[in-house]
Amino acid sequence: MSGNTLWHGRFEGGPAAELMAYTESLSFDLRLWPDDIEGSRAHVKGLRKVGILTDAECESVLRALDQVAQEMGSGSFQFVASDEDIHTAVERRVTELAGPAGAKLHTGRSRNDQSATDVRLWLKRELGTVADRVVALQRVLLDRAESAGEVYLPGYTHLQRAQPVLLAHHLLAHAWALGRDVERILDALERIDVSPLGAGALAGSSLPLDPDFTANELGFAARFRNSLDAVGSRDHIAEALFVLTLIGINLSRLGEEFVLWTTDEFGFAKLDDGYATGSSMLPQKKNPDIAELGRGKAGRLIGDLTGFLATMKGLPLSYNRDYQEDKEPL
Ligand code: ARG
Repeated sequence: MSGNTLWHGRFEGGPAAELMAYTESLSFDLRLWPDDIEGSRAHVKGLRKVGILTDAECESVLRALDQVAQEMGSGSFQFVASDEDIHTAVERRVTELAGPAGAKLHTGRSRNDQSATDVRLWLKRELGTVADRVVALQRVLLDRAESAGEVYLPGYTHLQRAQPVLLAHHLLAHAWALGRDVERILDALERIDVSPLGAGALAGSSLPLDPDFTANELGFAARFRNSLDAVGSRDHIAEALFVLTLIGINLSRLGEEFVLWTTDEFGFAKLDDGYATGSSMLPQKKNPDIAELGRGKAGRLIGDLTGFLATMKGLPLSYNRDYQEDKEPL
C-alpha cells in the first residue's frame, strides 16, 4: 500500500522515478502539515455529518490524525519514497494507522481543493504574524518619535535640502506607510478567508458534502461560490505576494536611510557596534550591513511576485499543476 500513488487504480504501470523526483512538492509543502491535518479533521467530520463515515470510523480517523500530528511535530514521522507531497504523506500514514476507515479520508476530496484549503489556512496564520511584526515596528518608530522631542533635521526633496523638519515627523512618515501595509494585509485576508473545501477536483462531488460545515469548522469567514474558481484561481496568492513585497520595499527604503544617515557625509545617526560590521583593512569604517541586506532582499521579493504572475499568466481554468509553484515564492 505505502508504495502506491493516489491514482494507481487507474494506471497499469507505476510512475517513473524521474517523474516523482521532478513533480514532488514535499520538500517545500511539508510546512503545511498543521494545515493539512486541520483541513482533514474538518473533512472527516463533514463526512460523518452527511453519513458517509460512521461515528466509529470518524473517531478512528481523527485519532490517526492526532497521531500523525504528534509524529510530525516531534520529527519522528517516517516518510516513504511515494510521499509526493504533504497531502499524500498524511493520507498514507492515516490509512496505515486507521485501515479502511483511513482510506475514506480522500472521499469527496481532491488534492486540488485540499492544497488550496491548506495554503489559505497557512496564509491566514502567517499574514497575521507578519502584520503583528509590522505593528511592532510601528511601535518602535512611535517610541523613537516621542523620545526625539524637538530635534530637527533637514527635510529633503530631490535629495536636496529643502526645509527643516522634526525628526519625529520623519520617523512617523515611515510608521504611516507601515500602517497602510497592515491595512493591505487585512484587506487581502478578506479574500483569502474563503474555504475552497468541497470544490473537489474542479466540479464538486456527487456526494452530499457540506462545504458550509467544513468552512465553519476551519474558521473561514465564507466558502467558495464557484468550484472552478475555488481550485482554479490564485489571485489571492498574487495579492499576498504583492502586499508582502510592498512591505519589503518600505523596509528597503528605511534601510536606505540608515545607509545614508550613518555616512560621514550625512552623520545624522551612529550605528550601535552590535549592529554594524567593520573592516580589518579600513578601521575607520562601520558598515550598515543589516540595512543593506534589508534593501537587497527586497529584490528577491519583487522577483518572487513577478515570477508568480508569469506562472499564472495564460493558465486555463481550472486547476493546473503549475499552481504547485505558488508555494515556493510564498
Ligand atoms: N502538490 C500538488 C499541489 O500543490 C497537489 C495537487 C495535485 N493535483 C493533481 N491533480 N495532480 O498543487
